[in-house]
Amino acid sequence: MTDFAAWMQACQSHMESVLAACLPPAHIAPQRLHEAMRYAVLGGGKRVRPLLAFAAGEVAGADPARVQHAAAAVELLHAYSLVHDDMPAMDDDALRRGKPTVHVEFDEATALLVGDALQSLAFEVLAAQPLADDPAVQLRMVHLLAQAAGSRGMAGGQAIDLASVGKPLDLAELEYMHIHKTGALIRASVLLGAHCGTADDDTLGALDHYAKCIGLAFQVVDDVLDAEASTATLGKTAGKDAANNKPTYVSLLGAARARELAQELRADAHAALDRLDDSAGRLRQLADFVVERVF
Ligand code: IPE
Ligand code: IPE
Ligand code: MG
Ligand code: MG
Ligand code: MG
Repeated sequence: MTDFAAWMQACQSHMESVLAACLPPAHIAPQRLHEAMRYAVLGGGKRVRPLLAFAAGEVAGADPARVQHAAAAVELLHAYSLVHDDMPAMDDDALRRGKPTVHVEFDEATALLVGDALQSLAFEVLAAQPLADDPAVQLRMVHLLAQAAGSRGMAGGQAIDLASVGKPLDLAELEYMHIHKTGALIRASVLLGAHCGTADDDTLGALDHYAKCIGLAFQVVDDVLDAEASTATLGKTAGKDAANNKPTYVSLLGAARARELAQELRADAHAALDRLDDSAGRLRQLADFVVERVF
């Protein structure tokens, strides 16, 4: 196993216990909601956003014991976005992370509430204890996650996604949608990790630029995998974008050009980190992972 694979696996298994500890136990009322929240979050997922938070934390010399809470907050928010994304009114997906989706395993009302409750829990985790030396910085972190999640971030991107079904978007419109629905939370992951430590404005600027590149690259690759990978590998139904008539980088550019674009964004992400030292090593490896991943 490579050093990066071992690091990734260690972070993933650590996050599993951090998330398990911050989710309400399934035996506490309301049991069915708590059971469904745990079902949505635990036992699956690549944990890319937490990995990014830890890697950015390394650049800022942040204590991982702090970063883990920021990482959990963003992963809880992401898990909520997946639960709602899969619902019949949105993408209508029956499979997620190799399991039936929450509305299929439980019911639609429960899936709605799981999303609501996970979003609240994310902010509870982010605000429950000191994560930055300066309380004003932590306030900025709460603000950052709220903006990334809301109508000018992920939720706004999802609205554009739904409004775009059956419409041939141009490249600028598609980029705008992807930057919002997926890029915003990826960017928040990187910046939240960095804010747990100390980083000057130049470093934060570099991290921000890096995060924007890989945030877009992440969704471009998601589009390619939807078209080219199998349901078994993805753990979610393959070919759904074409079936749902979604405009994607594949429908606009073709898979080959979309893959090239992801490589260009990877190069841009690396270039953004040029002036940083070896502490950015994990971020560099994650840029490669985001583009090379097969699920
Ligand atoms: C899927 O995200 C949804 C997108 C934003 C593209 P991930 O590919 O990170 O899903 P998990 O968390 O690993 O299941
Ligand atoms: C999802 O985009 C973005 C979210 C905010 C969840 P997709 O709809 O392409 O994600 P998948 O392919 O279902 O994971
Ligand atoms: Mg979607
Ligand atoms: Mg979807
Ligand atoms: Mg997709």
